[in-house]
Amino acid sequence: MDQKQIDSFTQNGILVTTSVKEKQITDIDKLIKQMKERNIFILDSKTLHDILGFESDGDFKISPLKDYNGDKSISTPQAWVEYFNDRFEQLKNLLITRLNGNVRAISISNIRNVPQGDEVELIGMISDISISPVKKYTIITLEDRSGTCKVISKTIDEELVKDQVIFVRGKKINDAVFIDEINLPDISIKEETQNQADDVYAIFLSDIHTGSSLFAERQLDRLVSWLNGSIEDFSDIAKKVKIIVLNGDLVDGIGVYPEQEGELSIKNVIEQYNSLYEILNRIPDDKKLIITPGNHDAIHIAEPQPHVDPYFAGKLYNLENAMFLSNPSSFNVIYDGIKRNILLYHGFGLMYYVNTIPKYNKMRNEDIASIMTLQLKSRHLAPTHGSTQLMPLKHDYLVIDEVPDIYATGHVHNAFISKYKSTVMINSSCWQFQTKYQKKYGIIPQVAKLPVVNLKNKRTIMLDFLNEKIGVLEGNAV
Ligand SMILES: [Fe+2]
Ligand SMILES: [Fe+2]
Repeated sequence: MDQKQIDSFTQNGILVTTSVKEKQITDIDKLIKQMKERNIFILDSKTLHDILGFESDGDFKISPLKDYNGDKSISTPQAWVEYFNDRFEQLKNLLITRLNGNVRAISISNIRNVPQGDEVELIGMISDISISPVKKYTIITLEDRSGTCKVISKTIDEELVKDQVIFVRGKKINDAVFIDEINLPDISIKEETQNQADDVYAIFLSDIHTGSSLFAERQLDRLVSWLNGSIEDFSDIAKKVKIIVLNGDLVDGIGVYPEQEGELSIKNVIEQYNSLYEILNRIPDDKKLIITPGNHDAIHIAEPQPHVDPYFAGKLYNLENAMFLSNPSSFNVIYDGIKRNILLYHGFGLMYYVNTIPKYNKMRNEDIASIMTLQLKSRHLAPTHGSTQLMPLKHDYLVIDEVPDIYATGHVHNAFISKYKSTVMINSSCWQFQTKYQKKYGIIPQVAKLPVVNLKNKRTIMLDFLNEKIGVLEGNAV
C-alpha cells in the first residue's frame, strides 16, 4: 500500500495496522465503503480477510455455510434449556423432513389420553436408555418439552445412544409404548449425476502439531514440494488440487497434556503458529487453504470453537489464499455446475464413543468410521451430552443440518476414507509421530497420509508421504 492509499483510509477515520500496510490492495474505495457499512474502523489482517475473503475465483467459488461467529454464552440453567430446545427443534424438523411429513406425533404428555392398545407416534429426546437384563429389551425414557414416558423396543438397538432425537411408532400398553418402528433423523442419499466438470481435488490434513519435537517436518515439507510441482509422483493430481483443508490441531500448543513440555521443540505458541506460516506460505496461491481450530489450538476448547485467534496465530492471517472457519463448520464448493457440501469437525467427541462403547475401544479405522456413521445418522456431531465440551449457545452448531458430500474429521490420528450412503467420510491422518502419552495408551498414529477427493465425481485416493517415494494406501477408494 502506498502513502496515498493509507491517507485515504485515515481521511475516512480508518486506522490501518502495520501488517496490512505491507499488502497490495487494488480497490481501496470499495473496501472503505464496505468497512463503513459494517461500522469497522480498524483495518487489521483479520478484518481484511473477513471482508475481502476469496469467495470467487473465476468460475470457482467457496461459500461458507456453517461458521460460528464467536458469540459467547454463560453456562446458566436457562442457557442450557434454550440450547437444548434449539437442538430438539432442529432435529425434530430434520426427522419430519426425513419422514416426508408423514408424522402424526403427539406431545408426550398427551399419551395419558390415548386408549390402551391404540397406536401412537412420538418424537422425543432419549433421556435414559438401558437393556433389561432378563428379556434383553431396550428400555428408553423419551422426553419432549411436555413430559417423559417409557418406550420399549423388543430388540437391542446399538445405534441408539443418550440424547439422540428419535421418532417412534408403537402401541400403548399400560403407561409405556411398545415400539413397532423407530427412526433416527439420518442422512439421505444424494443422487450423483453425470457431469462435464473438470477434475478438481480437495485434500484433507489435520493434526499438524507444529512445535512438537515429534512433528513430521520432513514429510510435510515433501507434501509442500509436491504441491509446488517439484515431485513427479502423482503430479497430475498435485496440479489440480484447489482446496487444502487443515482441520484443527494446527500447532501442538502449550500445556495440553501431562508432561508435554518435554516433547516441544518450540515452547511459545505464537512461534509455533509462525513456524506453520513459513510452511504454508510456500504453497501456491491458486490452492485455497481452509483453516479451522482443534483442541490443541490457542482458543477455548468448548465447541463450537471460533476462527483461530489472530492474537496467537496472527501471521496465518497474512496468507492471502487462506479462509478461516470455525470448528465445526461447513462450506460449499461450486464450479462447472457442481455443488459439493463439505462438513468439517476436528473430532474431539469421537473419543467418548471409543471409551464408552466397548466394541470401538481398539480405535481401528472401521471403529472410527462407525462412530462417524452414528453421528451422521443422529444428524449431530456430539449426540450424547458430555461427549464433548459445549458452549450453550442459542443455536446448536453441532447439528448436521445439511447432508454433506464429504464429512472430514481428525483428532484421533487415524487415516482412512470410508463411505456412508453417498457421503464420503474422512479421517485425515496426522503429521506427528507417536508421543509418550499415546505410547502409554497404546495409540499408534497413522502419520503423513493424505486423503484426496476428486470433487467432480467424489472418487478418492489416499496418498502416503511417509517415505521418499510417494505411495498409495490401498483400501481407501470409495
Ligand atoms: Fe491431534
Ligand atoms: Fe485433537
